Amino acid sequence: MASEFDQYASDYEAMQKDPLRHSFSKDGTFFFERKWLLIRSYLASLGRDLSNVSWLDIGCGKGELLRLGRPEVASITGCDVSTAMLELCPDIASRPMTDPERLPFPDQSFDLLTAVCVYHHVAPDGRAALTREAARVLRPGGVFAIIEHNPLNPATRLIVRRLPMDRHAILLGSWETRRWLRAAGFVSLDTTYFLYLPEKPFRMFSGLETALKRVPLGGQYAVFARKQ
Ligand SMILES: C[S@@+](CC[C@H](N)C(=O)[O-])C[C@H]1O[C@@H](n2cnc3c(N)ncnc32)[C@H](O)[C@@H]1O
Repeated sequence: MASEFDQYASDYEAMQKDPLRHSFSKDGTFFFERKWLLIRSYLASLGRDLSNVSWLDIGCGKGELLRLGRPEVASITGCDVSTAMLELCPDIASRPMTDPERLPFPDQSFDLLTAVCVYHHVAPDGRAALTREAARVLRPGGVFAIIEHNPLNPATRLIVRRLPMDRHAILLGSWETRRWLRAAGFVSLDTTYFLYLPEKPFRMFSGLETALKRVPLGGQYAVFARKQ
């Protein structure tokens, strides 16, 4: 069955063009670098050795985040409901999801799971099931990071309103994300707000974003959670 993103895949970059988004990062790479920095520093704070980590990115799209982390982790895998998006990352081991609420992997397959800007494309009544699936395929002690647009940030709301590929998006606040994670049995939830600053000022004043990480107004947020 065709998924919504199959129709965007051939023109994905153009679909993301927005002057406000562009003012944060010219080519979008910065958005992925910021996320990888956060994920990597969270794992470092747990004392995890990245070279032993097997990572699944749920809704990996073009695989840009996975490619950034690839040199540092043991293995990378992607999955997505859109086969057309997966065709854009032939260099990455990936599996299509024929059921949006089922991850096509056996129990306890990975140490790290991420879902980046995916949940706002999942209907609210499918979010609990997807989160339970994440708990199933994660190994005990593993980490699940959900990264999402922050509906409390006015610039984020404006960009989402303007982008055609977000026309069916239903944003979720960090409180809702934490609720799904807790309901699926995840523990030790840790929320970081980021993307206060565009790329250039961030490079000069990254300490400012660190100082603001508990203030719930950044352009995006990450909720890190652990499986017991
Ligand atoms: C906005 S894109 C984000 C892609 C990538 N994570 C990134 O950050 O560039 C959303 C992606 O989520 C995928 N998606 C939507 N619903 C999904 C679901 N239930 N399970 C897995 N992927 C899903 C879409 O096909 C699309 O590739």
